[in-house]
Amino acid sequence: MTHPLLSERAAFLAQRPRNRMSALAAKYQDVIGLSRGDPDLPTPPHIVEAAYRAARDGQTHYTPTLGIVPLREAISAKLRRENGVDYGADEVMITSGGQEAICVVMQSILNPGDEVILPSPTYTSYVLAAQLAGGVPVQVPLNRDQGFQLDLAEVERRITPRTKAIVVVSPNNPTGTVLSREALEGVADMARRHNLLVISDEIYEKILFDGATHHSIASFPEMQPRTIIVNGFSKAYSMTGWRAGREGRALDLHVCPRPACRPGRPHRAAGLPGGNPVHLRTPPDVAALRHPCGEPAHHAPRWERVRLRGCPWT
Ligand SMILES: Cc1ncc(COP(=O)(O)O)c(C=O)c1O
Repeated sequence: MTHPLLSERAAFLAQRPRNRMSALAAKYQDVIGLSRGDPDLPTPPHIVEAAYRAARDGQTHYTPTLGIVPLREAISAKLRRENGVDYGADEVMITSGGQEAICVVMQSILNPGDEVILPSPTYTSYVLAAQLAGGVPVQVPLNRDQGFQLDLAEVERRITPRTKAIVVVSPNNPTGTVLSREALEGVADMARRHNLLVISDEIYEKILFDGATHHSIASFPEMQPRTIIVNGFSKAYSMTGWRAGREGRALDLHVCPRPACRPGRPHRAAGLPGGNPVHLRTPPDVAALRHPCGEPAHHAPRWERVRLRGCPWT
């Protein structure tokens, strides 16, 4: 029961299945949480040091709305180096975590009634962010017998004249599935034929097991102009707890459609909802991206335990 003076939106948020499920799960001991992915590793020391240094150096003021230039440049270089995509620093936007990026993207691309195709199950925030933007989430069930890979025919069947975008989350939360190159090529083909955007959530790109390879769909022919990459530092650099600043969110993320396809360039949706990224967080993020290999020896057994492949912060 919500307060009568609260908005309908607040009442809607209060009823989120995820909240109800979490409240229910809290009553049991043997429940495995499959909502937010939180690597059980501490943040690498060189990143923590960079935060100390930034605080001591007085980097405690407002930052530009789109984020500090050195971080946007470091992300642009990372995208070129690791993902084979060429987004300039001016096309990178820093947000308060992947969570905010998802909201900003939905607010930026959806008009009321526009549809977004989402895999199901997937990270629940996508459904909510689309709904809060007035959009309609259209879910495509992932089949366990098919290894939770996307069934391209099922995706195509759901495309209508109102479809704006297809969301791909690979590696996926909660299934862990890494989409095959063929599946991504199929999505790219549909996006080109139906003139759709692709929102590519690559936040787990460094958490790969059993020889799996991550491909960014933005690197496929003609896909860069119609792809918005959502990524962040929480998972790859064990920085989930670095939630700071307004509304208690961490800040990071790269989001970047190119000028050719900026129907509503995610421009922090006019400065909302996060304002500007937290200054103390951004120098450590730069450190994370620039450090050659931050994996200290004492992390090794834990990496082993969570089966992380290789050094995620090279
Ligand atoms: C698929 C996916 N995307 C985005 C996020 C948001 O991450 P953050 O806001 O910590 O950057 C999460 C968090 O669990 C997630 O699982």
